[in-house]
Amino acid sequence: MSNSESVRTRVVVLISGSGSNLQALIDARDHAQLASADLVAVISNRPLAAGLQRAERAEIKTEVLDHTLFPDRKTFDRQLMQLIDQHQPDLVVLAGYMRILSDEFVRHYTGRMLNIHPSLLPKYKGLHTHRRALEAGDTEHGCSIHFVSETLDGGPVIIQAKVNIEAGDSEATLAERVQQKEHIIYPLVVSWYAQGRLYQQDDHAVFDKQILHQPLQLDSLT
Ligand code: GRF
Repeated sequence: MSNSESVRTRVVVLISGSGSNLQALIDARDHAQLASADLVAVISNRPLAAGLQRAERAEIKTEVLDHTLFPDRKTFDRQLMQLIDQHQPDLVVLAGYMRILSDEFVRHYTGRMLNIHPSLLPKYKGLHTHRRALEAGDTEHGCSIHFVSETLDGGPVIIQAKVNIEAGDSEATLAERVQQKEHIIYPLVVSWYAQGRLYQQDDHAVFDKQILHQPLQLDSLT
């Protein structure tokens, strides 16, 4: 193996649905924004996830592991770990992967697993984040990328991107604007990780050798 090959970061992406964040990663790859990373496999827990077709079009290996065929979460997650590890990933990217993870699964990938969540964490962990932001009368909303920990939507937050909530916004219009931001920050964060600029240290993310006591903000990046 040559030097240039040995430093490449192998990325496995987990999806459950549309895969628009996966598409953003594919587009970044195709425009050399992920120069140090390889998207080696896309795994879905839903056989009909549209994101699988995106992966096939991009000539990325796809796998399906249907969670409904397993008796419980623990058994499914163990099988999923085996499947993921066959691809020898350096990084596991959750991109709209809609399953709660067992603690064993999380521990296995600690420090090398990222998730994107459609809220300004720690606000609105869990589901229906856009609706909850609207109902609360918030003036801003957004998305966060974090290292995954054993707490649902917990773990050190790396970066957030904000959008203003406008009068007349619905869940759909807000979701669309938030997703546009998601598609910017996920490729960015994966590229940082692949370049060795980002890692997890205990309960913190470290970026360019600085412990992040607060998440980075997309708008503040130079
Ligand atoms: C995104 O909004 C992401 O924040 C959430 O699930 C959604 C996935 O969308 N975790 P897609 O499948 O990437 O289009």
